[in-house]
Amino acid sequence: MEEDDKECLKEAGEILKAGGLVAFPTETVYGLGGDALNPDSSRKIYAAKGRPSDNPLIVHICRFEDIYRIVADTEESRKMLANARKLSDAFWPGPLTMILPKSEEVPLETTGGLNTVAIRFPSHKTAQALIAYGGGYVAAPSANTSGRPSPSLARHVQEDLNGKIDMIIDGGEVEIGIESTIVDLTVEPPQILRPGYVTQEMLSRVLGTVDTDVTILSDKSGQAPKAPGMKYRHYAPKGQLTIVAGTKEKVAAYINEETDRLQAQGVKTGVIATEETKNLYHADVVKCAGSRTDELSVAKHLYGILRDFDEEGTEKMFSESFDYAGIGQAVMNRLLKAAGHHVDRKSTRLNSSHVSES
Ligand code: TXA
Ligand code: MG
Repeated sequence: MEEDDKECLKEAGEILKAGGLVAFPTETVYGLGGDALNPDSSRKIYAAKGRPSDNPLIVHICRFEDIYRIVADTEESRKMLANARKLSDAFWPGPLTMILPKSEEVPLETTGGLNTVAIRFPSHKTAQALIAYGGGYVAAPSANTSGRPSPSLARHVQEDLNGKIDMIIDGGEVEIGIESTIVDLTVEPPQILRPGYVTQEMLSRVLGTVDTDVTILSDKSGQAPKAPGMKYRHYAPKGQLTIVAGTKEKVAAYINEETDRLQAQGVKTGVIATEETKNLYHADVVKCAGSRTDELSVAKHLYGILRDFDEEGTEKMFSESFDYAGIGQAVMNRLLKAAGHHVDRKSTRLNSSHVSES
């Protein structure tokens, strides 16, 4: 690390220790950091984001051993900690958050009143250095205004939080682009509360059976999501987004028919396409998310595209649907939320029964 960067990160660490807020890059999305053990810092985070205070924050650490101070030391938590150790060996540092019973050290302000705590050890070097300089425990939600897409660039943080926080560290574009996988280790079998880069299959290889919260891919379960944050309308662009599923040709034909009709009425239209299909569309704004052969590229660009639509003032947008394999499940989870679960199925070949139609 350059000497200048080190000085800057030390200064940022001092801001955190003094109760201030610093936005910083991680491998998933930019985070808005405050001292996790200081209730005032957590209150400030909620205020800056305009976030409901019953929506808990993730505590970021920079060494596995540091979890012992913030996890309850009970008979019950020992087995959960053994699972945490196994997952840490496999996936930390990295895009995985674990829910464990909290110790007295973690203020209820940080956990939104819950007696569990979400913990993540990020792999991004800047994040790690900031956490170390900031005292070891950094509460950080995504650094967006509540309800807007998470930031994948420092510019996005600036758009939402400029003037409301003490510092923004610019680390360029993030690597993954959607938030960490959250796994609840306080239940048996462990349960995924939010899908991400680390998939159910990857977790199962380490822990055996791992469940997924039924609310993740459908809005029709009639149940409240277990991660409080997943219940809020999220990631939503200002215009209305519809996901269109089916074969490439049918999807393109349908979207073109719709956008032609809307354009004739003076409605500004947008499409989320891929390298393979971007030249097929007539809409006013056609955004290429990435290549179908590289689903990670789609994850990385999705939130930025939703923000661009807002900037360009598109009113009706359409997105192609993606495969549920690998990170595709996380991509579709975010896309479905952005669309308010509005899906048009143009073929019976959609490969998942989870999608709700409207
Ligand atoms: O990738 C990430 O996880 C990013 C970066 C900055 O690390 N952070 C992030 O934080 O996405 P946030 O606050 O935007 O999302 C945290 C999610 C929310 O849905 C929240 O409800 C859930 O985690 N959560 C936090 N603590 C929890 C707990 N104790 N039990 C259940 N869900 C919890
Ligand atoms: Mg968030």
